[in-house]
Parts: sequence; structure tokens; C-alpha cells
Amino acid sequence: MPALKDVSLDVLAGERLAIIGESSSGKSTLALAVAGLLARSATIGGTINWKIPKSQTSHSFAPPSVLPDISPKRGEIEPSSPPSPISNVAGREPTAELLISPQVGEMSGRTEGGAVARQLSQPRDTIPLLGRDIGFVFQDPSSSLDPVMPIGKQIAEVARTHLHLTWREAIAKAKTLLERVRLPNPEATLHAYPHQLSGGQKQRVAIAAAIAAGPKLLIADEATSALDTIVQAEIVALIRRLVSEDGMTLIFISHDIALAASLANRIAVLRHGELVELGETSQIVNAPQHAYTRALLDAHLGLDAEPLLDRQGTSA
Ligand SMILES: Nc1ncnc2c1ncn2[C@@H]1O[C@H](COP(=O)(O)OP(=O)(O)O)[C@@H](O)[C@H]1O
Ligand SMILES: [Mg+2]
Repeated sequence: MPALKDVSLDVLAGERLAIIGESSSGKSTLALAVAGLLARSATIGGTINWKIPKSQTSHSFAPPSVLPDISPKRGEIEPSSPPSPISNVAGREPTAELLISPQVGEMSGRTEGGAVARQLSQPRDTIPLLGRDIGFVFQDPSSSLDPVMPIGKQIAEVARTHLHLTWREAIAKAKTLLERVRLPNPEATLHAYPHQLSGGQKQRVAIAAAIAAGPKLLIADEATSALDTIVQAEIVALIRRLVSEDGMTLIFISHDIALAASLANRIAVLRHGELVELGETSQIVNAPQHAYTRALLDAHLGLDAEPLLDRQGTSA
């Protein structure tokens, strides 16, 4: 049975899009496909249209702090769908049409983690690259961080690789990032190992590493699901702040419709690998079109009678 069936969606530059659905609905598979992290054993098909304005295509040489803000139309991703007939037309922004199918010979190679590395014929600056263009935050920071490498080095490595910094510059950047994710005593934390930190602190480190190269898109896959409620709220607030400060686009994946509604501008609902509904958060919460979305809302209301949104349609 395929994990995803004809899923196609646009992600608008600068938006916060939540992808929700029950366990095994295909959320992680979709996120991993966008990030190019699906295992080589997976049968993969689809395309990504990644649209980046000319002025920002060489951003890997500029520190993210000096990059201009994203304009609303700056980037769109359309995974697992045929190429749009209107993409790549003359006069539009440069488009990278990424075929995510090993069968067509566009993908080869393997990373240490067993995932497929995307080696494409397009120039490097027109395709999304994990780390440089896409930051990915996993559910469990203990497995995404290297237990035997100092934290500063793990963050600096991302900056060094994608921003072409020296080690000294990259470590300085790592320290700044530790400050930005509000870890106490950044200088000491540079030299600490993951096991010396709490779960929430480790997730802050993982987020710092994910944004170290100034990616345009941040994907958080159940990034707060393993944390207790208070820490979860703090990490959501951190993600919201960083996304806003850096003008990033966010794909926030969660099984929790209330959490998704508190953060997202739009919500996509996945069920059994299919996209059943996609709409503005207020529409999904107040006027769901699909019975499954209503069931998710009912399940939430059964647990907690607090309204998800106030009457203005903003987060409660
Ligand atoms: N590595 C894998 N090998 C085989 N099937 C997988 C693998 N990972 C996930 N699946 C299957 O793909 C479907 C979607 O899983 P997943 O994307 O992890 O869902 P979610 O993140 O929504 O919980 C499930 O049926 C799951 O069992
Ligand atoms: Mg998942």
C-alpha cells in the first residue's frame, strides 16, 4: 500500500502550513520526501517546483541575517505531483523542477543515514538542498543529534558546509544561534554533549542546527510531540519567533489539531496517505468540509472544551 497517494500542494513563501493527521497517515513520509530523506528502498515518484527569485539564489554565500525578507510569492513547493503546466513559463522566477524519482535517474547516492542524496543536473543554487535550503527538525533530538560530538561543532558543521565559513566563523555563528534559541550559557553549551541537556534544550540545539545555514523552509515533524506540555509550548513559541525573525516558511507537522491551529495560517489534513482537506486555519476549525476533519475536531473537543480559535479567527 503506498504511503502517499497523489498528494499535491503548494506551500506559499512565508506561510506557516500545518500538516495534520493520525499516526501512519503519511505526514512524515511527505516531509521526508520534500527534504529528500526517504530511504533508498522506497519507491518514489513526484516533483517539487521550488521557486526562488534570482536575487536570493546565491544566498548560501551570505549570512542569513543580511538576507532580505521573503516576499509573499517567493517560493512554492509542490511535492508528489506532476509538473504544473504553468511553471517555468517565460518571465517567471527561476523554477527548479525536482523529480523525486530514482527510476528516472535523477537521484543517486546515499548519505550515512541511508537516505537518498539528491544529485541533480540543475545548478546547485536552483534546487532545494537539505541543510542549506530546507531545515528539518525531527521528533526526537536524541536521535537527530550526534551523542559523541560537542553541540557547538554539530551546529557549526552545518554553517561551515553551507555558508562556506571557516571553523572559527562557524563556531562564532553556533554561539550566536545558541543565544537565539535561548539556551543558557551559550559559551559553555558549545562544549557540552547532548546527554548533558534536557529534552527541551536538546530540541533547541536541533533547531539551532536546522536553521544554521539560513534555510528558506523549516520543516518540523512532530518536533514538540515528545515534550511535556509546558516545554512543548516553549518550543512552539521558539519556532514561531525564529520563523518570523528569519522570514522562513514553516511546515509544521503534528497529530494535534489544536497545536496546529495555534501556529498555522493554513492546515492540510492527511488521511491514509491522501490529502483530504486543505484550507485556512479558521475555515478548517470553524467550517471543516470533510467528515474526517470534523472527526479530528470532535476528538479534540472531547478532550478539551476550550475553543480552538476565538471569534476573530485568531489563535485562542
Ligand atoms: N520505512 C518504512 N517502510 C515501510 N513502510 C513505512 C516506512 N515508514 C513509514 N511506513 C508506512 O507509511 C505509512 C505512513 O507512515 P508515516 O509517514 O510515518 O505516517 P505519520 O508520520 O503520519 O505517522 C504508514 O502506513 C507506515 O506504516
Ligand atoms: Mg510521523
